Amino acid sequence: MEYQNILFSVEDGIGMLTINRPKALNALNAATVAEMKDCVEKVAVNSDIKVLVITGSGDKSFVAGADIKEMATKNPAEGRAWGIFGQNVFTEIEKLPQPVIAAINGFALGGGCELSCACDFRYASENAKFGQPEVGLGITPGFGGTQRLTRVVGRGYAKELIYTGGMIDAQEAHRIGLVNKVVPQAELMDVVMKVAKKIAKNAPVAVQMSKAAINNGVNCDVVTGISYEAEVFGLCFATADQKEGMGAFVEKRKPAFTGK
Ligand code: HXC
Repeated sequence: MEYQNILFSVEDGIGMLTINRPKALNALNAATVAEMKDCVEKVAVNSDIKVLVITGSGDKSFVAGADIKEMATKNPAEGRAWGIFGQNVFTEIEKLPQPVIAAINGFALGGGCELSCACDFRYASENAKFGQPEVGLGITPGFGGTQRLTRVVGRGYAKELIYTGGMIDAQEAHRIGLVNKVVPQAELMDVVMKVAKKIAKNAPVAVQMSKAAINNGVNCDVVTGISYEAEVFGLCFATADQKEGMGAFVEKRKPAFTGK
């Protein structure tokens, strides 16, 4: 598939997916979400990619939401289908074996905030702004915002953001736990690449099993969750990287992981 609305590249084991509709502040139309789906499906089966970074092009916006102009004339069935399409793609992002970092370089509104919440964690530039403005358009969040934002920041802040439709700045997003770090815009990609490379240096299977255990655990009770953890923990001892990681410690050298 040739991409018109996103950019994708891989360097040093880090995939970079950039939403690239800067004239529309990277709003998500159907063509963009379809390209994201294609890209994410390819990332899922590419073991050379250890970490995926998602960002927006330009210096103003990460993603300013779903494309309002495209959505404006939908009937209820079409609206529902559009919501489910986006939900499914964001769930594919959330379920990617590799960690996904959102590098939020500006507006993360509506579907943009929802996209960031489907990522494992978020770093933001100082000019970033977050919000769920849907109720001001006569709709609810529809790409997972009522569920994932609530799980990231808790019910009180999620409800305030969703009911008011207001925007918060990066510092407030940091204070409520929506983003892990706030940095000057010029430094955002360097800082994100630094943490991505730090993750990429670790044993890939162990990182991916950790992600699966955390993600599956938040959807079930703690007894089920820790029993899942015991299974993935045990499985790690079947990997060459477990032998390499522990062997390197004992031999006082740096491990050379192979992902096997
Ligand atoms: C379509 C959008 C857009 C969007 C911006 N643009 N956001 N087009 N859909 N979500 C377009 C504008 O129409 C304009 O193009 C260009 O981008 C620049 O935007 P401006 O408004 O001129 O910029 P500015 O004055 O700086 O204001 C920035 C802004 C504002 C505050 C981000 O654009 C804004 O409020 N955008 C909408 C944000 C929003 O409500 N998002 C939630 C969408 S609903 P033209 O060609 O007109 O100049 C949603 C639901 C998800 O996400 C779930 C669906 C199932």
